[in-house]
Amino acid sequence: MKNILYLTCSPRGAESWSRRIGDDLVARLGGAVLTRNLADDPPPWIDAGFSAAILAPVTEAVPPALAVSEALIREMEAADALVIATPMNNFGVPAPLKAWIDQIVRVNRTFRSTPEGKIGLLQDRPAYLVVASGGWFTGPSPIGTPAQPDFLTGYVRVVLETIGIRSLSVITLEGVTRGADMAAKAVEKARAEMDRLLPP
Ligand SMILES: Cc1cc2nc3c(=O)[nH]c(=O)nc-3n(C[C@H](O)[C@H](O)[C@H](O)COP(=O)(O)O)c2cc1C
Repeated sequence: MKNILYLTCSPRGAESWSRRIGDDLVARLGGAVLTRNLADDPPPWIDAGFSAAILAPVTEAVPPALAVSEALIREMEAADALVIATPMNNFGVPAPLKAWIDQIVRVNRTFRSTPEGKIGLLQDRPAYLVVASGGWFTGPSPIGTPAQPDFLTGYVRVVLETIGIRSLSVITLEGVTRGADMAAKAVEKARAEMDRLLPP
């Protein structure tokens, strides 16, 4: 059976647009799901102990400062597919997702630094990023307001590529705070994209 790691990053529970489409996507993938609600249970910030431990020689026993990191990385390794459902906050990832990224992108564990650059150490696997945003960033708004900056999708793509996960698909839900009609259109577009990626 397939194992799916499902990260949810919105604090808005059942009201969350990213969560609603993320739930559908996970159901569509099928399999055993490990859900990590990063908004309710955020990973710790990086502290001095973590910063020192990643630069120390690698030992067989995991140092206590890296225990959380190791547990989160093992969840990734056990997953055949990764689904991240997240809001866009101030053009980028929300803080709990950034905290997770800082725990799992780890030198000599999930990537190596080489003269050619960083080389990912995890197997590639399908990954899906579902992004909900109040405005539009893949193009202008329906009334022609210019697309806002997007430091989220490109950033998550680079982060996952750094650790070896290159098969990323992105589904967006844009304009969801601009009234019921706009939200319905965003959901319709997201579902169409899901059907294209994972035909029912
Ligand atoms: C702190 C904060 C920052 C936000 N920044 C942006 C932003 O930069 N661009 C945008 O389009 N929407 C922004 N929004 C709106 C959210 O992306 C939108 O409400 C989205 O639906 C939240 O996702 P969710 O429905 O999964 O909770 C922001 C919302 C909050 C609370």
